Amino acid sequence: MKFAQRVENLPPYLFVGISRAIAEKKAQGIDVISFGIGDPDMPTPQPDLDALIEGSKKPANHRYPESEGLPEFRESVAAYYKRRFGLTLDPGTEIINLIGAKEGIAHAALCFIDPGDISISPDPAYPVYEIGTMFAGGETHFVQLKEENGYLVDFNDIPTDVAKKAKTLWINYPNNPTGAIAPLSFFEEAVRYCKEFDIALLHDAAYTDVTYDGYVAPSVLEVDGAMDIAMEFGSLSKTANMTGWRVGMAVGNPDMVNALMRVKSNIDSGLSQANQEMGIAALDLPTEWLDNNNEVYRKRRDKVVSVLNEIGVPTVAPKGGLYIWTPIPEGYTSAEFAQKLLDEVNVVVTPGNGYGPGGEGYIRLSLTISDDLIDEGLRRLSTFSVDARS
Ligand SMILES: Cc1ncc(COP(=O)(O)O)c(C=O)c1O
Repeated sequence: MKFAQRVENLPPYLFVGISRAIAEKKAQGIDVISFGIGDPDMPTPQPDLDALIEGSKKPANHRYPESEGLPEFRESVAAYYKRRFGLTLDPGTEIINLIGAKEGIAHAALCFIDPGDISISPDPAYPVYEIGTMFAGGETHFVQLKEENGYLVDFNDIPTDVAKKAKTLWINYPNNPTGAIAPLSFFEEAVRYCKEFDIALLHDAAYTDVTYDGYVAPSVLEVDGAMDIAMEFGSLSKTANMTGWRVGMAVGNPDMVNALMRVKSNIDSGLSQANQEMGIAALDLPTEWLDNNNEVYRKRRDKVVSVLNEIGVPTVAPKGGLYIWTPIPEGYTSAEFAQKLLDEVNVVVTPGNGYGPGGEGYIRLSLTISDDLIDEGLRRLSTFSVDARS
């Protein structure tokens, strides 16, 4: 059978290789500790589960949902944006529900990209920005996120002829995989740049509420004029331990939101309304709940960073996101170093090049495994001796 080029062109999904390596070790009777995938280990909060149970009993929720989402869900997102960022959004035209941010991110390309069009994406980055563009027949121009630049996109690195042709620009702060955060002034620069070149600015805000040390992440929509050209993708997956329930949202310029709604209404029939009711409950969680949840990750972060530094892998503690991103010793590729950790201490980390060539020379460790597993993983890592390979 002959498959479409877009399927042939797909790289293997990053975590498939990691799962295989874990399975091989297990088959040899060896248990591995995986700092691989970012999937919260802590349970979905009880109010969300109660909302799901109640929601599942309502006959109206047994029927097709609307693609744009329940009005109550969109109103709840508007209330969140008001409370959290002081922004007033119209739930009727500026907000839609998503089946997780990933779905909206992938489908967004279909709103802006025609065959041959260019999308600008950071490198390293969450791979879906590139894949969505490829599915739409477009091409991605990568702009490298540099450590010395705080992993912020440097707009001077984008050639003017690329900017003139580009249809979309993806940004993501707090960032996966680097853990970088962006000040509002960076978002101002991004808005100015996209206006100058008439580019749709797409901000992946999946980790906006997963922050530490008192840091509060801004929304790109706080920037004056952002509503003219920007759309922001939010998610309850990481914030509220809800990866399995697939609740996300796209918010921003009404024409952009409407285009995504039209694409979605021709492809999916929206998220189960009972799950949207979970989303409402999650958006209503008290800030103390969120603070306590983030505090668990903060403690894990500090432990991981301290052990990495002790074993000779100099690592900086991120202020947001769920990942530790750290350079590996000279002389190894990311994949070789990750393999060495697996072979020598039965610990799985993600090789940085899985997020694009700009991630070569780094590994990523996720903080989403239980404290006991973290402790055992760190015990193993502390026995590891790091030598630069000549
Ligand atoms: C940067 C980023 N965006 C989006 C997502 C997907 O979020 P969701 O579970 O809402 O689809 C992830 C998940 O890992 C992510 O890391």
